[in-house]
Amino acid sequence: MPDGPRHVSVLADEAVAYLHARPRARYIDGTLGDGGHTQRLLEADATIEVLGVDRDSVTLAATAARLSSFGGRFRTFRGNFDELGTALMQAGWDRVDGILLDLGLSSAQLDDPARGFSFRAGGPLDMRMTPGEGPSAAALVATLDERALAELLWRYGEEPAARRIARAIVTERARQPIADTAALADLVARVAPRRGSLHPATRVFQGLRIAVNRELDHLDAFLAHALEWLRPGARLVVIAYHSLEDRRVKRAFRDWATACRCPPALPRCVCGARARVRLLTRKVVTPSAAEVQANRRARSARLRAVEVLESTP
Ligand SMILES: C[S@@+](CC[C@H](N)C(=O)[O-])C[C@H]1O[C@@H](n2cnc3c(N)ncnc32)[C@H](O)[C@@H]1O
Repeated sequence: MPDGPRHVSVLADEAVAYLHARPRARYIDGTLGDGGHTQRLLEADATIEVLGVDRDSVTLAATAARLSSFGGRFRTFRGNFDELGTALMQAGWDRVDGILLDLGLSSAQLDDPARGFSFRAGGPLDMRMTPGEGPSAAALVATLDERALAELLWRYGEEPAARRIARAIVTERARQPIADTAALADLVARVAPRRGSLHPATRVFQGLRIAVNRELDHLDAFLAHALEWLRPGARLVVIAYHSLEDRRVKRAFRDWATACRCPPALPRCVCGARARVRLLTRKVVTPSAAEVQANRRARSARLRAVEVLESTP
């Protein structure tokens, strides 16, 4: 039995139930993280196999070591979850019985000041999930013009004071570079004081992180291909933590579940379109009050699941 993970898996019972863990099933965990959900799947039946995918090589190596006692039933692929075609080919697998995405960051990433995701501890303003790949948050803060910064904070952080904060960043960086998480968090707190229970820098950090990692692009690319990687009868479960992600998942699932696309005025269907999935969660699934109390990071989680009716060619 492996040691427990540092990250407490969110909606773990619900995710395993919706994935319909069963003998000889093969799953992809597209956001392996500390491997808590994967471990639950592997423990559900001794014939289940999981391919764990993560873009973060540091996380992947640690979890591969932690779950090594599962032997050949557990394998890994370093990359983005929109590259599952390559991951499947490398594993010598065909379509799978289920895919799980548990979006965002793990506690290990968030709590490591050297990764630059947290405004609660000082550290380099990095935020790259794939270490060293593409521009860091510090590079964006140093180079984007005021308008582009405001647009980023508004679009990805849904930050109401985006313009004010962008102006303050541009003024401050002319005096000295903003390369530290604490320096950015302090600056935001000065120009846009706390509203409600959220730390004033929460939305700014969310916006920068989404932009640095092109998180919405990867999710869109995943959703464009996900049905190609799933067998008939397979399940797809996605746990999202903010509305920008959840909205995309909801829209894609609804679209896949829609049969006829004819205008409502037509007396009968002429398009011949058929639904490709069955919605398993007509209403979004959220954590219980007890789970949120035990794990504050679960508070914004929203789980949606579908079952594939037929595969796309
Ligand atoms: C919330 S954690 C997953 C936690 C995991 N379910 C558990 O129980 O430990 C999200 C993980 O997904 C990874 N990740 C985020 N976006 C990704 C992407 N586009 N492709 C692959 N991995 C990604 C992050 O590096 C992080 O390790």
